[in-house]
Amino acid sequence: MSKPIIIAIDGHASTGKSTLARTLAQYLNYVYIDSGAMYRAVTLFAIKNDLNTEQIVHHINDISITFDVSGQIFLNEENVSEEIRGMRISERVSEFAAIAPIRQKMIQIQQGYGRDKGVVMDGRDIGTVVFPEAELKLFMSASPEIRAKRRFEELKLNQDVSYEEVLKNILDRDDKDSSRKINPLRKANDAIIIDNSNQSKEELLQGALELVEKALN
Ligand code: CDP
Repeated sequence: MSKPIIIAIDGHASTGKSTLARTLAQYLNYVYIDSGAMYRAVTLFAIKNDLNTEQIVHHINDISITFDVSGQIFLNEENVSEEIRGMRISERVSEFAAIAPIRQKMIQIQQGYGRDKGVVMDGRDIGTVVFPEAELKLFMSASPEIRAKRRFEELKLNQDVSYEEVLKNILDRDDKDSSRKINPLRKANDAIIIDNSNQSKEELLQGALELVEKALN
């Protein structure tokens, strides 16, 4: 068996990073960590406790975030995997993700999960900051309209939301995530770009698996 590696998948909002990362982790029998879910969980904590971006800094030690083996996320022992997906969180998450002490804490947890390698992690700064030594780095993008359409189709099943709202949120997060001072969304120099605007899920997976096989050998 080949030695375990780290696979870092970064990219713009709603580009299918999580789906690809989860599938690759299953295929390789690796741990999957959705780093975006961690920033979403912090945002949920802030909203629930009525804390703004200045106040939250004093409550960082009150936040515990863990994953179970199936990738469900727990905020202070409560499973919040569903709750963090809503627009209420999407609208605020980029503000909280821009705060230095929050990022420090999340990065520490993320690096802990990668200590023994054998991990697929998706996010914004995984290939640049969390695991700059990752053996395989992918950077995913797709046109904003296609991303918004895909996310809208998912969200509309559970919530009252319009395509326009989803598109606006995606553009807004891309802008905030790319322009923040601390660990902005950037393609790592050695990341491979995947634009999946015109690719089916199967084509995307096939292409990614070929890259994984190369990285393993
Ligand atoms: O799945 P989607 O593309 O909607 O986003 P996500 O991965 O759930 O991430 C939600 C938000 O968390 C992003 O818009 C970023 O503001 C933040 N994030 C980050 O700053 N750094 C990461 N490594 C992952 C997410």
